[in-house]
Amino acid sequence: MMFLKTLCLPLLFTLTSLCSCFGIGSYIEDPFHVDFRHHRAYHRPNFRTFSHVPNNRNHRNPYSGNRFGYDNGIQSRLDKARGPTTPKIVNVDDFGAKANGRDDSQAFKKAWNYACSSSQGATMVVPKKTYLLKPINFSGPCKSALLLKIYGTIKATTDHSDYEGNGRRWLYFDNVANLRVEGGGTIDGNGRTWWEKSCKINKALPCKEAPTAVTFNECTNLRVSSLRITNAQQMHLIFQKCVNVNAFNLLVKAPGNSPNTDGIHVTGTQNININNCVIGTGDDCISIVSGSKNVFATGITCGPGHGISIGSLGAGNSAAYVSNVVVNKATLSGTTNGVRIKTWQGGSGYARNIKFQNIVMNNVTNPIIIDQNYCDQQKPCGKQVSAVQVSDVLYQNIRGTSASGVAMKFDCSRSVPCRGIYLQNVALRAEEEDSTHASCANVRLSYKGDVSPPCSSQN
Ligand SMILES: *[C@@H]1O[C@H](CO)[C@@H](O)[C@H](O)[C@H]1NC(C)=O
Ligand SMILES: *[C@@H]1O[C@H](CO)[C@@H](O)[C@H](O)[C@H]1NC(C)=O
Repeated sequence: MMFLKTLCLPLLFTLTSLCSCFGIGSYIEDPFHVDFRHHRAYHRPNFRTFSHVPNNRNHRNPYSGNRFGYDNGIQSRLDKARGPTTPKIVNVDDFGAKANGRDDSQAFKKAWNYACSSSQGATMVVPKKTYLLKPINFSGPCKSALLLKIYGTIKATTDHSDYEGNGRRWLYFDNVANLRVEGGGTIDGNGRTWWEKSCKINKALPCKEAPTAVTFNECTNLRVSSLRITNAQQMHLIFQKCVNVNAFNLLVKAPGNSPNTDGIHVTGTQNININNCVIGTGDDCISIVSGSKNVFATGITCGPGHGISIGSLGAGNSAAYVSNVVVNKATLSGTTNGVRIKTWQGGSGYARNIKFQNIVMNNVTNPIIIDQNYCDQQKPCGKQVSAVQVSDVLYQNIRGTSASGVAMKFDCSRSVPCRGIYLQNVALRAEEEDSTHASCANVRLSYKGDVSPPCSSQN
């Protein structure tokens, strides 16, 4: 132990001081470290104000210099390698953003390119005004760590032709490492004109995808916090093929009848913590789909919306893989589902090692549901034998009320039954009906503690 201390502490200090020089400070922290003992009630995100400049010019590093016995030659070479210690402040207004109701995209693009090419770290600042943006790519790789401070509001243009040829994107962060986005501001997708054109709202119109408000694609060591994301054209926030993500203190809001407006969508992403978020939209609060692994969601307040979902998985006979998901401490109110796993017939792969713990349901239509016959298309889905295997799922300390008589539903595949489903201390009462029951097909269950309603018959 002594040996470890003497050897590691100086090393740790050196690392910490190096990091703070580059202005990336504390977010080198291990994103895997989830503190489940955190008993604070999460209900509103706490929009803290952050200091404007992460490291001021006079920042003295108490551990620099000769402390560890470097000779001066080594020290000055180290200093050279570190470069200047102050990250650049890059204000979008200095690049021509006007916040006057006209498109500010060019200014944002220029500011991003400037910040991204800084080798000393940069803070890109969006002041407390309202800016209008067309679709924009914030592309990496960047030369050093970036901080994007959104104090104001970023609004999407509503001219649908602005989005042509740009696929399903509005704000698209691509291939950026060591990025932080924060500031207490608002990202507003201005989605109403898209919702009106949705085939789910107007059945006469063809089904077309609308843009996602904010996408992070292939980003590593990413932190997104203290923001409001509202009224997305379609999905609000996607983490796609990212590694090491912390998302916290987010408020995600859209009307309950806005179509396909998922709150936070996680796809192909590993090691992600979603903490202390309030999400109410017209679709899933959180959806976790194929290629996602080590997903921790804690302190989630959800509703209105479709609940917290793993899937859908296996659409179009595809293979899907999702594992190690923990949803801990969530409150769902008035949602159509609580915690759901949904897979299409004909898929393959697995969804396994999943824990739903400490969850309160308030008038939720399907509080606990595994649906292996999911079908979200206009023509009916035919019977198929193959299925995504669902196994090792724990439901622990789940209580509250169900809006329907079926508080718990396991509709599993006949050929690939659900295995290792553990229920412990589940109490779901009826909100409106006289009583609740469980509907259980092709599921291998174990019970611990009180479970109500239990499956009456199991097959
Ligand atoms: C963003 O990049 C994609 C390619 O990844 C390109 O097709 C698209 O036109 C770009 N959009 C903008 C607004 O630059
Ligand atoms: C419960 O949910 C149902 C269906 O969503 C709704 O009609 C009803 O008004 C809700 N009840 C309460 C007490 O909120």
